[in-house]
Amino acid sequence: MHSFSTTVLVAFLAGTASAVLKDWQQCGGMNYQGDTQCGESAGCVVINDYYSQCQPGAAPPAASTTKPSTTLKTVTSSGAVLTGSSAPTTTGSVAGKGPGNELQTGYYWIRAVEAPNFHKYLQSKPLYATGTAVLGDYTTAGQFQVVGDQLVQLVSGPGEKPEKLLYGVVGPERLINNLSLAVSWSATPNTYGKFAFQGDGLTWTVAGISRPNAAAWYVCSGQQLYINLGNYLYGTPSGCADETIHYYNDKKANN
Ligand SMILES: *[C@@H]1O[C@H](CO)[C@@H](O)[C@H](O)[C@H]1NC(C)=O
Repeated sequence: MHSFSTTVLVAFLAGTASAVLKDWQQCGGMNYQGDTQCGESAGCVVINDYYSQCQPGAAPPAASTTKPSTTLKTVTSSGAVLTGSSAPTTTGSVAGKGPGNELQTGYYWIRAVEAPNFHKYLQSKPLYATGTAVLGDYTTAGQFQVVGDQLVQLVSGPGEKPEKLLYGVVGPERLINNLSLAVSWSATPNTYGKFAFQGDGLTWTVAGISRPNAAAWYVCSGQQLYINLGNYLYGTPSGCADETIHYYNDKKANN
């Protein structure tokens, strides 16, 4: 059965006859009937049995037999659960060694590019474990991908199977200036809203909330990351900084 997001994507793609796909669009997977041609500088990367994605800078796949991650399957199937009202699910606890300081296939660094968090990288606190989403040092940068509507962090060691993953989950409770939503790392998928890359910027949207800028984030005390539901660079609460955060796919994170 298609997940909600896959069905929408297929329906969307069906309207554009044999188009070259944009970065981050689906390009393959079981039951997928849409286009498969990624843009010139992108490759179609197998994420799991059900989902392949056009990723910028990725080499075209040598074969379509990449061993699927069993854990990731739950992402696409449960990414469809968009109740919009449930509390953040941070049950269960997952911790891993961390994927190291070389980017693993299919994953990205995510970092801010504006002061005072220039080249501060998304990670979890504690590192590679269920906990808070923070921007921190490049030496402890996490590795991420967006699959379905989920923001997924790889926390197992390089090449370790099965992969250990954490999901970025958004709490619906309005914090700080009544326009901030906390983000944390959970063993179970997010049920509130959708993550996506637009260009290289990470966005979050949810039905029922019209955000002036879907790519606006706050970094507040303790380097903690929040979704900024209000304006970017206007009405910033004290103790917080406005940021947009972007994927980066160099082999190593850097300062
Ligand atoms: C916070 O925002 C919500 C949604 O706009 C609103 O209903 C609520 O009254 C606000 N609370 C405060 C304390 O401003």
